[in-house]
Amino acid sequence: MKKTPTINPGRSDMQIIPIDADQSLIELLNRAGLATSDINQPGSICFFGCHQSGKLIGSVGIEIRKKSAMLRSLATHEEVRNTGLGRALVEHAELNASHMGVSDIYLLTTTAADFFERLGYEQLCREQAPDAIRKTTQFSDLCPTTSNLMRKVL
Ligand SMILES: CC(C)(COP(=O)(O)OP(=O)(O)OC[C@H]1O[C@@H](n2cnc3c(N)ncnc32)[C@H](O)[C@@H]1OP(=O)(O)O)[C@@H](O)C(=O)NCCC(=O)NCCS
Repeated sequence: MKKTPTINPGRSDMQIIPIDADQSLIELLNRAGLATSDINQPGSICFFGCHQSGKLIGSVGIEIRKKSAMLRSLATHEEVRNTGLGRALVEHAELNASHMGVSDIYLLTTTAADFFERLGYEQLCREQAPDAIRKTTQFSDLCPTTSNLMRKVL
């Protein structure tokens, strides 16, 4: 049975906004089992998040590489899962990427391929990744070689 939504991303106090790569993001990503070692590296990762009562409950990052981008650090707090926040965060990241001139978004996942497929992402062989995406730390260092590479053309 579907959970009763406890959050409504449309509420004015639950907007998705740009966030810093600070301790609250590290804690959320740790809880979700996602990598944090590179989140403070200088470069072009933009993070967005959503707060509830001052607490970070959702995050997503996009790392822009020319016309391509890597979507990463998508996490929602266990207490608010299945309420639409994950999808809202992905859509927010896509919209921002599109405004920045990105034409295709890539991601790597070991656990959520079905989730992303429902949002229009298709599975690719890792060999099909463009050079710019191969050079991201997510691709080259942090995500296991068994993770699924996925792409959405915006
Ligand atoms: C994946 C994740 C962000 C989804 O967040 P969410 O807030 O629950 O997402 P939504 O509420 O928008 O979507 C929920 C729907 O996706 C499905 N879903 C959630 N996680 C899923 C997963 N790992 N695989 C497949 N489907 C999933 C739910 O069953 C639900 O389906 P329904 O609408 O038919 O009921 C969240 O489970 C999470 O933080 N997971 C740990 C970190 C992770 O795996 N991140 C992705 C890799 S970068």
